[in-house]
Amino acid sequence: MRRKTPESLRSARWFEPDDLRSMGHRSRLMQLGYAEEEFRGRPVIGIMDTWSELNTCHAHFPERVQDVKRGVLQAGGFPVQMPSLSVDESNMKPTSMLFRNMLAIETEEMIRCHPLDGVVLMGGCDKTTPGLVLGAISAGVPAIYVPAGPMIRGNFAGKTLGSGSDAWKYWDERRAGNLSDQDWVGIQSGIARSAGTCMTMGTASTMTAIAEAMGLTLPGASSIPAVDSNHHRMASACGRRIVEMVWDDLTLDRIITEAACRNAATVAMATGCSTNAVVHLIAIAKRAGIRLTLDDLDELGRTTPLIANVRPAGKGYLMEDFYYAGGLRALMNQLRERLDCSALTVNGRTLGENIEGAEVYNQDVIRPLSNPVYHEGSLAVLRGNLCPNGAVIKPAACDPRFHVHEGPALVFDSYPEMKAAVEDENLHVTPDHVMVLRNAGPLGGPGFPEWGMLPIPKALIKQGHRDMLRISDARMSGTSYGACVLHVSPESFIGGPLALLKTGDAVRLDIPNRRLDMLVDDAELSQRKAQWRAPEPRYERGWGWLFSKHVTQADQGCDFDFLQTDFGRAAGEPDI
Ligand code: FES
Ligand code: MG
Repeated sequence: MRRKTPESLRSARWFEPDDLRSMGHRSRLMQLGYAEEEFRGRPVIGIMDTWSELNTCHAHFPERVQDVKRGVLQAGGFPVQMPSLSVDESNMKPTSMLFRNMLAIETEEMIRCHPLDGVVLMGGCDKTTPGLVLGAISAGVPAIYVPAGPMIRGNFAGKTLGSGSDAWKYWDERRAGNLSDQDWVGIQSGIARSAGTCMTMGTASTMTAIAEAMGLTLPGASSIPAVDSNHHRMASACGRRIVEMVWDDLTLDRIITEAACRNAATVAMATGCSTNAVVHLIAIAKRAGIRLTLDDLDELGRTTPLIANVRPAGKGYLMEDFYYAGGLRALMNQLRERLDCSALTVNGRTLGENIEGAEVYNQDVIRPLSNPVYHEGSLAVLRGNLCPNGAVIKPAACDPRFHVHEGPALVFDSYPEMKAAVEDENLHVTPDHVMVLRNAGPLGGPGFPEWGMLPIPKALIKQGHRDMLRISDARMSGTSYGACVLHVSPESFIGGPLALLKTGDAVRLDIPNRRLDMLVDDAELSQRKAQWRAPEPRYERGWGWLFSKHVTQADQGCDFDFLQTDFGRAAGEPDI
């Protein structure tokens, strides 16, 4: 059932009229050496390419763009490369999260203002997936996602290294005096050995898995290692498919439904997802006009077992092993009963059809439901007088003795203050202490940085401790682990209750009952509240100022208020 004709293509409004403006548009494509028959009457496909030389995870994109173009041409489309904001995790300060919404705005507006009939979204490094998807939802044209794919396994001295996770682990060994300078340099050169995203189940692999479970990629696409020749073939297949999607007018509103969002959340829980999934999933669902709350995610977390045995929540394996074990299709087939298999995907088939017959080849990597890595899903959502609007923890990635824990708070107001204290070998701290970092949320950080895996104080490291309860209004990397309560909302910078906590106050965490409280009475808290003064704003101009004025809190997905779909009427097509 083809609903689009050459005359009804969106790009026809640019190229077909016999008027001055259209002559200008045509002549400018001809400036590139194209003949009219190469673009007129053909779907114009924008390749939204988040490549840069500082986004090392996307180092293979220049090649993959050529694969996508090949596919588009084979299917009779006209490909155009659209360099897009390259939000990278590896080199941006203070945090890439400050720029997710910038990519979302850019994607939306660059699609809207150009003669594009459909887009191929090329991303992978953490924020690029939600940034591109958020923008494409609002732009409303057909879109398909090309996930960058994970890099190959790290290797040093005969040992496998996992992105992020092993950096944290060996850093603590170095701080404990157990690792030589030479070994540290060896780890540095062995932990990132190819193009591709972090190969633990960090935020990148979590978000690309979410994209696949949501129906935005071709079946199995998210698990293919970046440098595998299958990755080239997947990219060219996306090029062919997007042209058909344009003719079929298969827009994202038909794919990102409530069922698709719940499927994505279920799959995220079963994979041991990054805590960042919560923020991005809520933002994506809201853009698509779907209600998905922290409580919905907690409920899915309680009922979905974690079956991907991939670090950091799982034990020994990495994304390359996950691919060889059958990849995400095989994992989703295990979860079949818990998914809405009728959800439509970009290839025009249902999720159920796409995962039919997908086999698990290694039952230790992708576990059967009867033998999960952890009996519940990856995340738990907490409430209490420290986090009335919620906070998040990854129970499977922390020492179980912290699942129920009470201890005295050790509070820091800034990262530099905390950093100096944890290196002080004489710091008064016990393994029962609860380390707290505040002013690290969306406004306080600024930008909601990944500081939430607070370093264990050296005094404890030297005694052999490697985990303790930590609380912050920051995020943490998906490659991180430990008893870290994150995303405390509302954040302290705007006067959330975390701002009222004092060193020495007792704090109680109870994961089974989903509670996080400070054991301070209400009268005392009201008094502290009355004395609280808001910190100086972080920005007085520029992007940071715009971000600060409009970003929503963690529990709302950190979208900008004015970008949310319910903020106002959608922009129509340009009328000239
Ligand atoms: Fe790019 Fe981890 S730094 S995915
Ligand atoms: Mg990360």
